[in-house]
Amino acid sequence: EWILHNDEFIQEDKLTISKEDRGYQFGDGIYEVIRVYGGDLYTAKEHIDRFYDSAEKVKIVVPYTKDVFHKLMYDLVEKNEINNGQVYVQITRGSYVRQHQFPADSTPVVVGYTKTVERPLELMRNGVRAKFIEDMRWLRCDIKSLNLLGNVMAKQEAHESGCFEAVLHRSEMITEGSSSNMYGIKENVLYTHPATNLILDGITRRTILELCAELGINVQQTPMTKDQALQMDEFFMSSTTAEIIPLIDIDGSKIGDGTRGALTEKLQKAFEARLN
Ligand code: PDD
Repeated sequence: EWILHNDEFIQEDKLTISKEDRGYQFGDGIYEVIRVYGGDLYTAKEHIDRFYDSAEKVKIVVPYTKDVFHKLMYDLVEKNEINNGQVYVQITRGSYVRQHQFPADSTPVVVGYTKTVERPLELMRNGVRAKFIEDMRWLRCDIKSLNLLGNVMAKQEAHESGCFEAVLHRSEMITEGSSSNMYGIKENVLYTHPATNLILDGITRRTILELCAELGINVQQTPMTKDQALQMDEFFMSSTTAEIIPLIDIDGSKIGDGTRGALTEKLQKAFEARLN
């Protein structure tokens, strides 16, 4: 398997990372996960733009143009003969003697690799259970930062309760999932948290909002409270890898009739239609 290291393709066993890489020591870097369907990068432009935006927000300069970056992603997928899968790519501020402030001089380090992943069709059909967990992350969740400890702790707690995902809330207000965006549907209106600093502006989320416009589903970008969430007719999560997965139970309370809702299914179908 080929790995992207800066602007070179190397074999995995040739990859070396410094003990003082700031990604490793501080989580000082950002990343993207891009889906591959039928050998093609899906919504590549949006992911690449967000990669550059996240980097800019933490003052890391990506060492090549977006066109070159796109070509590197494309070549990586092709070299590894990925049909259905994903690219993971990250950039860190590079390595330097450990100190919190930015290094006087360091070269950013990019690592990208691919993985084969199938679509989670069974979860998409049957739905999953979820758990409310207090959102203890920082106030720049709009940045796709490598600092994922808050997300990791939340997902683990959900996992230990036999749940697939954590529904994060700041006090009573639902923000997003530990690695997904969250939506409720009540009387044909879709509710989701606005794309502020408190959530990641998901690429799948943007597609879903476009599909709602096409399908005539009204959208309210206002946060739901936990109580409101439990009263929704339907609830689902979205991400690059999850696509659209129904939440049929939160904290042991059934959502709707406890099965995939009609509008959720409609959105899944419309989402799928765009993949062909
Ligand atoms: N996670 N919110 C958070 C906190 C996320 O980590 C993600 C994605 C999303 C959904 O964004 P998108 O639709 O652009 O994938 C929302 C990726 C898949 C991950 O970390 O694996």
